[in-house]
Amino acid sequence: MASVIEFRGVSKVYNNGTEALHNINLKIEEGEFVFVVGSSGAGKSTFVKLITCEERPSKGQLLVAGEDVSKIRKGKIPYVRRKMGIVFQDFRLIEHMTVYDNVAFAMRVVGASGRTIRKRVPYILSLVGLQHKAKHHPNELSGGERQRIGLARALVNNPSLIIADEPTGNIDPALSFEIVDLLSEINRRGTTILMVTHEHSLVKHFHKRIIQIHSGEIVADTADTRPDREPEPDPNFEVTGVVDLDDGTFNDIRIMPENAKPSDYEAIETDGKGERK
Ligand SMILES: Nc1ncnc2c1ncn2[C@@H]1O[C@H](COP(=O)(O)OP(=O)(O)OP(=O)(O)O)[C@@H](O)[C@H]1O
Ligand SMILES: [Mg+2]
Repeated sequence: MASVIEFRGVSKVYNNGTEALHNINLKIEEGEFVFVVGSSGAGKSTFVKLITCEERPSKGQLLVAGEDVSKIRKGKIPYVRRKMGIVFQDFRLIEHMTVYDNVAFAMRVVGASGRTIRKRVPYILSLVGLQHKAKHHPNELSGGERQRIGLARALVNNPSLIIADEPTGNIDPALSFEIVDLLSEINRRGTTILMVTHEHSLVKHFHKRIIQIHSGEIVADTADTRPDREPEPDPNFEVTGVVDLDDGTFNDIRIMPENAKPSDYEAIETDGKGERK
């Protein structure tokens, strides 16, 4: 199985001296769905920005879709970005364009033909359940609908990887579930998903791999627990971590020894003192 993302000893120090990430080693394989959690300032957005090439590592190597982006030339960045769809917390829709044009625009900028666009956009809008809103403008939509357009735009060029930094941060909880449901459906069709979130209820409800970042380091990483996957325990990484889900509750993530089966991985809800609820 090919890695879509691989961090090898990656650190990021910003110009002002802040070390946002320290010695990150991590692989994300094709077809995985990964939640990235951690408290404010932990380094989650920095982690995402390195992948999207908005920032560069200060140290180490970062491979994205087989390409070493640690020292990538500026001119090559658009080609790497074409392989990914990016979903933003604040949607970033173009207000004076219709829903249809917002999605079509993402195809135009990569040079798709008019014919391809006319076929593809209605299909993607129906995938996110908003074909009936094609002629509306973003300001006529609910928050959840706006984010579904954001998702449609990220998907329209058929990326192999979707990156979302708190895509549900500006919508209410019920709609958050809807968005993650959609992402799950997209993931089932083979797209790798990496999503940063603060929402405990989402992480708990959708059983996905969870990577927790704390003070610039990975402090917990559950393996992919889908039943059809063999776990690949990292012998260098013994986790007995606590996933702090920011709302005062904790999940202990117990990683069993090497050769453990996925069913041996267990997330236990505790009362925050390590006692099982
Ligand atoms: N452009 C920047 N220049 C200097 N320091 C930065 C910059 N961006 C982020 N930082 C610092 O790096 C650290 C990690 O920030 P980051 O944005 O990655 O955190 P985060 O986990 O995404 O937090 P949040 O949950 O609040 O979005 C913080 O200490 C932050 O102040
Ligand atoms: Mg952030």
